[in-house]
This record gives sequence, C-alpha cells and structure tokens, in this order.
Amino acid sequence: MWITTTSFSTRGRARVAFPLVTELSRIGVTGLAVMGANLARNIARRGIPVAVHNRTSARTEEFMEAYSGEGTFTAAESTEEFVAALERPRRIIVMVKAGAPVDAVIQELVPLLDEGDIIIDAGNSHFPDTIRRTQECAERGLRFMGVGVSGGEEGALNGPSIMPGGDPSAYAEVEEILTSIAAQVDGTPCCVHVGPDGAGHYVKMVHNGIEYADIQLIAEAYDLLTHVAGLDAPAIAKIFEEWNSGDLESFLIEITAKVLAKTDEKTGRPLVDVIVDQAGQKGTGTWTAIDALNLGVPLTGITEAVFARGISSLREERKAASKVLVGPNPSEAANRTDLVEDIRQALYASKVVAYAQGFAQMRAASKNYGWNLDLGAMARIWRGGCIIRAQFLNRITEAYEEHGDLENLLMVPYFTEAVANAQDAWRRVVITATEQGVAIPAFASSLSYYDAYRRERGPANLIQGLRDFFGAHTYQRIDAEGWYHTRWPQDGVEVRTDA
Ligand code: 6PG
Repeated sequence: MWITTTSFSTRGRARVAFPLVTELSRIGVTGLAVMGANLARNIARRGIPVAVHNRTSARTEEFMEAYSGEGTFTAAESTEEFVAALERPRRIIVMVKAGAPVDAVIQELVPLLDEGDIIIDAGNSHFPDTIRRTQECAERGLRFMGVGVSGGEEGALNGPSIMPGGDPSAYAEVEEILTSIAAQVDGTPCCVHVGPDGAGHYVKMVHNGIEYADIQLIAEAYDLLTHVAGLDAPAIAKIFEEWNSGDLESFLIEITAKVLAKTDEKTGRPLVDVIVDQAGQKGTGTWTAIDALNLGVPLTGITEAVFARGISSLREERKAASKVLVGPNPSEAANRTDLVEDIRQALYASKVVAYAQGFAQMRAASKNYGWNLDLGAMARIWRGGCIIRAQFLNRITEAYEEHGDLENLLMVPYFTEAVANAQDAWRRVVITATEQGVAIPAFASSLSYYDAYRRERGPANLIQGLRDFFGAHTYQRIDAEGWYHTRWPQDGVEVRTDA
C-alpha cells in the first residue's frame, strides 16, 4: 500500500509514495470507474482524506497517477488494506454496477468490518435489494445506506444531487461529507436524509423515471419540429435555446440545444442526424413503471417513455413496417405558423403531468413502505446537481411548502393554471401529430391522464357492469350503500351481496 499526502493546492505534482499508512482516512471509495473516481475526487477536494480501492488494482494505480495531487488519498491494493486505512466507524462508499457486483463487494467487506461500520451503496441499485441488504447488514451489526446520486460524471465530480436512505444514525456520521460534496442551490445543499432502508434508492429511481419522461417529451417535440414544422437540427437547436430562457429552463433543455447544434466532423451533417435512433436503457425507468403498477398509481408519462425506448429498439421491425404500414396523407395543419409555440406549451403541460405523476407515486410509495417521505424536500434536492434539475422544481418546492401533503400537484393553483393555459395548444399539438402520423405517446397519454383525472364521472361504471356480467365481480351503486350483483343472463334481478 502507498499513501500520498499531496494536497489540492499542489495539484499535478508527482505522486509521493510511502510504504505505511500514517493517517486514517475519513471515508473510503471502492469501485473506481468514472462515477466512483469522481466522487472520491470530489470528497478529497474538500480536504477530506479518502481511501480508494478497486477490484483490479491497476485501476487504483491509474487513479493515483492521474489524481493524487487533488487531495489526500490512501490507495489500497487489497480489501483488507482498504478497510485498515479507515477511521472508525468505517464509512465505505461502494460504487459498482448495480446487482450482483454490489452483493459481492458487501460479502468481501462484511468479515473485515466492526459493529457500527457503515456501507454506503451509491449506485443505481433496485430498492428491494437495498431493503434486503439493509436487513442483512443489520443482522451483522453493520449499518447500510442506499444512496441515490445523480448528475452523471460531471455532477459526481463537481456537485451531485444526493438522496441518502438508511439508518438516521448512519446518516449523521456521513452528513457533513455528503452535504459538502453535493450541489448547492441558494446556499442549500442538494442532499437531505430521504428515509430508511430503500427510500433513497426509490427516490433516485423515480428521479430516473422522470428523467425518462422529460427526455421522451423533448424527443417528441423534436420529432414534431422536424417532421411537421419541417425544421432542421440547427434551427431546432435555436428553438430549444430560446425555450431554455422560459418556464422550461432546465439542464435537459439546455443540453438538447447543444446536442442539436453539434456538427458531425466526418460528414458535415448535424451529428444527431447520423446517430442511430435506438435508445438504450439500464432499467431504472422500467423499475419505476413496475412499481407504479404494483402500487396502482397511474404513471402514464414515464411508462410511455419506457415503451417508446422499447419501440425504438425494434429497429429492424420498424424498417420492415415502414415499407408496409400506411400513414395519413399530409394535411394543411402542418403549416400552422403558431406550431412551434404550441409545441412548447404542450411540452410544458406534459412535463407538469409527468412530475405530478412521479410525485404521486412517491407519495403512494411512502405510505406503502412506511418511509414518511418529505416530498417538498425531494423537489428541493433536485433543483441542482441532478439530470432533471430545472427552474420548475422551485415551483414544486413552493407547492409543498404552501400546501403540505398534496394528493396531486395539478391541484395547486400554479400548476392548475399552467395546464389550463396550455391546454388549447396541447390539444392542437395532439390533433396535428395524430393527423400527420407522428407518434407522441408521452404528449398524448399526459393529455389523456389530465382529461381522465379532471372528470368527476368516467366510464368505469361500464367496466364494472361488464365484470359483473361475465364474472359476478359485483359493483357499487351511486344511490345506495353496499355491493351488488345482477343475474344478467338468468333472471336479470339485482341482489345485494354484502348484506
Ligand atoms: C443520473 C442519471 C444516471 C444515468 C441513468 C441513465 O441521475 O445521473 O440518471 O443515473 O445516466 O441511469 O439511465 P438509462 O441508461 O437507463 O437511460
């Protein structure tokens, strides 16, 4: 093992290696791929001594060669050395691929740790795994934290949004470190204790789900601006740049303008035009949708975004279908001059719906899993550092500050009015896209959700009638208490079933 004591101010200085540890590190990071490396650097840059470790020690050496000048690092070749380099209670950030690798690292660490030590999983783990690991570690006297970290590589290095879940006593031991490395907005760190066991990873999962919806809505707007308004990528880049100075101001809108403005060096064409139209995914959007289904929360925006990635990946099938399946004939509507502004409004209204749904899901999860989530605080820590950071999140924070436990964000006057003002444009966009044959699953499903949610009486009375007809599933009446069944095919007589 070697340690370096080069400080931040002597950045870039050659590594000084010593054979023995002279100072224990306050925290350790194992897993030095780019996210782990950047988190370790972020911590060290705050003057906090960090022990670093990687399964393959060549990566640790590379890390030290590149970054040891940025702070006080202890580089450990083995897990034993890594654990020995930490002050107690030991605080260990695990930054490895979600799934089996996390369990493998925990298994390696557990025999080396002492009661009260803290393992912090800062990857995108699935929350049921986090609940299980919390339990397993507790049985060994260890404290486990599932911590959501958002902001990509850049955020990890310069200030991410951090969603820590786990035992409050464990959080107290790392709060100072986490809040110091987090993004800061108006002097407030984008880091707050979210709740016990899986709460932090759950909130990060929903963050990612909303990220999926945001990205899908942007892609639909881009599709309409391309194929209905007839604009090219550089022109659409300018539109997104303008949109970024209004209600839509956000990191994702800002980088959309940058992606669209980029020219491909090889072909001279907009780079976006030569990128294959097939979206990848690592699973967090799917997990969000699955849990919404389990909880019975209508989560149309995020779920459609996941499905849209699915259809994008059917590239060969789409190629074949494009030669067989017929679309509409182009109509006049395509030339409307206010189309761009309509699309902006449709994007904003759909975004409001996606967030309303995501927050409704977190509310339901909080009750179901007993987490007592402070949803206003969640909006606050998403204002900076994370991928969905946006001006708009200030409005959500204010909504929770003013109205406390909200069933649905759409019911807050600011959002009620925002959607009411946008709805005519939103409807025109859905009509135009449908007439032109452009798929807009997130725009359209968000509008349908809005229309369904604002109806006092929907058509589910008929669903109940049908269920009762074929399966005697019973129904309730609007004018009487109790549950009823009609003997539809027999004598047509209604009987009360719960009396
Ligand atoms: C973040 C991101 C990050 C990652 C997504 C990408 O908050 O920093 O959400 O976690 O970029 O998981 O997800 P997909 O690969 O599924 O799009």
